[in-house]
Amino acid sequence: MEELLRQINNYTEEINVFTANDAESLEQFRIRFLGVKGLVKAIAGEMKQVPPEEKKSFGQTLNAFKSLAEEKYNNEKQRIDAISGESADMPDISLPGIPLPSGSRHPVTLMRNRIVDIFQRLSFTVAEGPEIEDDWHNFTALNLDENHPARDMQDTFYLSTDPAILLRTHTSNVQIREMERQKPPIRIICPGRVYRNETISARSHCFFHQVEGLYIDENVSFADLKQTLYFFVKEMFGNDVSIRFRPSYFPFTEPSAEMDISCLLCKGDGCAVCKRTGWLEILGCGMVHPNVLQNCGIDPEKYTGFAFGMGVERPALLKYGITDIRLFSENDVRFLEQFSGV
Ligand code: DAH
Repeated sequence: MEELLRQINNYTEEINVFTANDAESLEQFRIRFLGVKGLVKAIAGEMKQVPPEEKKSFGQTLNAFKSLAEEKYNNEKQRIDAISGESADMPDISLPGIPLPSGSRHPVTLMRNRIVDIFQRLSFTVAEGPEIEDDWHNFTALNLDENHPARDMQDTFYLSTDPAILLRTHTSNVQIREMERQKPPIRIICPGRVYRNETISARSHCFFHQVEGLYIDENVSFADLKQTLYFFVKEMFGNDVSIRFRPSYFPFTEPSAEMDISCLLCKGDGCAVCKRTGWLEILGCGMVHPNVLQNCGIDPEKYTGFAFGMGVERPALLKYGITDIRLFSENDVRFLEQFSGV
C-alpha cells in the first residue's frame, strides 16, 4: 500500500507538469493514464493489497488521482483542438475567407447612367415620371389625339377596367408632366422604362428603356438641338463617329428628325448590324410642337424648345457586343456577372 501511494505521488507529479505538444502526445497521455490498460486501472486493480480499514481513504486518493488525469486530459485537449482548429466553437483563422460575391450593375443601367452623365455635364437635370400613365400625358397632350394614326405605331397595354390608363409607350410623358409642373427654362433628361405591345424577338421586346431630353427657353433653335446632340455622340461614341440627321415625322415635334451615327462595327462600310446601310438609327428629335407647349400652358409665341428620345438597349447592344435583346431581361447570372467591374 505504501508503494501504491508512492506511485500515485510520482504520477501526480508527472501529470502536473505534463503539456501536450500535439494530438499524438495527448493520446499517449490518455493511453498511459486513462486507457483500459492504463495506470489508473492498474492501481485500482491493486486495491486487494490495501488493508480493509485503509480502503476508504485509499479509494478517495485514487479517485482524486483519476480526476486529476481526466481534468488534465480535457484541458490539454481543448488547447490542442483550438490550435489545430478542430474545436467546434473556435474558428480556424488559417482557412481562406468565405468569398463575398460582389454584384454588378445591369448593362442597361450602365448605359443609362452613361447617357445621363453626359447630359448632366450640359446642365440637364434628371426628371422621372410614372410608367402607369393616363392617355393625356402619353398621347393627347403630345398632339396625338384619339384618332391620330401615329397611335398605331405605339400600341400598348391598357387596363381593362379603365382604357384611359395604360403603360406608357415612351418617356415623352415626362416632358408633359414637367412642363405642367415648372416654368421655363426647363432642361431635363428623363430615363425610364417603357412598354409596347410587340412580339418579343432578338431585336424587340414588350418593354425596354428610353432616355428623353427636353430643353425649353426663349430663342432655343434647331442649331442648339444639333450642337447638343453632336456633343452627346462625341462623348458617347468617340470622335471618329459621323452623324447625320434625316427628316422625319413625330406629332409632338415640328420639324422632326431622326439622327443616325455611322456604324460602329463596319465604320460605315455596311454590315449585317446596320443592314448594309453603314448607318445606325440612334434617336428621334425635333422642335417641340407649339400645340404641345400650349397643352402645357406654355406660351409658344414666347418660348421654343427641342426634344429628343433615344432607346437605351440598342447602344448597349452595340457597346457590349450583345446580339439578343432578351438577354437583358432573363436575369441569367452568367450573363449579368460579366458586367462586374465595367
Ligand atoms: N417618343 C418617341 C418614340 O418613342 C421618340 C421621340 C422622338 C422623342 C422625337 C422625342 C422627340 O422627344 O422629339 O418613338
